[in-house]
Amino acid sequence: MEIEVLPLTEADIPGAVAVIQQAFADDPYFKWVFDSSAFNKQRNYDSLAARCRWGIKNAIFQVAKEKPSTSTSTSTSTSSPSPILGVSCWLPPKTATDPETWSSWFSNWILSFNQLLNNVRYFGRGGLRTNRYWIWKSQQEKAQSEIWDDPRGYYFCNIVAVGNDVQGKGVGRVLFEAVTKIADSEGVKCYLESSKDEPNVKIYERMGFHMSRTMECRDGEDVCMLYCMTRNPKTE
Ligand SMILES: CC(C)(COP(=O)(O)OP(=O)(O)OC[C@H]1O[C@@H](n2cnc3c(N)ncnc32)[C@H](O)[C@@H]1OP(=O)(O)O)[C@@H](O)C(=O)NCCC(=O)NCCS
Repeated sequence: MEIEVLPLTEADIPGAVAVIQQAFADDPYFKWVFDSSAFNKQRNYDSLAARCRWGIKNAIFQVAKEKPSTSTSTSTSTSSPSPILGVSCWLPPKTATDPETWSSWFSNWILSFNQLLNNVRYFGRGGLRTNRYWIWKSQQEKAQSEIWDDPRGYYFCNIVAVGNDVQGKGVGRVLFEAVTKIADSEGVKCYLESSKDEPNVKIYERMGFHMSRTMECRDGEDVCMLYCMTRNPKTE
């Protein structure tokens, strides 16, 4: 299977959200931060779709698809769009002194507004435990302030998800390399957080990441461990 990585488009959003929801269904962070008895999948879809629209403009939001063979790519008018095999969303590096642009401020405002509309439309947050979300944000800020030592900032892998039926077939590697190659050419470090130790830590080590720190998110007796990993640029 030959895979290509393309920027996310509006038309890709339903497929991209489906892959994220499927790949994260058993994710430990997801289970910790959402109350399963109140979880609203459609509310979650709308929230992720809003995040995708934000990401098209403000992040490196990409999708992996099977590359059309030469014969199918010439008959595009009749062929259906390729299914989304995987998705990744990276935040580009930002120095501590980079001022926020008006366009980024506006996009953030639109995202917050859309999430507020979703709250109204669905009478709530669809099972999101907001206290836990803020526990995670605060632990994340602490971890990043301890780990992030490069003033040029980091490529931050915010989401990576490969469809369940195509995991372990090289899709994740192609998605990662679409960004890590840029990071290498710029000499910039990368960062990610995984809530799965097995097998993800090993998978990310294959991509050149190493463990920097664990992050404990605790709400009473309920704990979610996150694994903070960084990657140094390759020189050759
Ligand atoms: C984690 C994930 C993105 C990896 O993508 P993938 O397409 O399955 O990974 P790949 O097939 O490209 O494998 C990448 C490397 O990891 C290795 N690998 C894959 N699965 C592995 C496993 N279960 N154990 C050990 N190594 C593994 C592969 O051999 C490959 O290394 P190589 O290219 O040097 O041989 C994907 O499995 C996924 O979406 N999982 C569920 C959702 C999730 O956990 N998302 C991340 C949250 S932080």
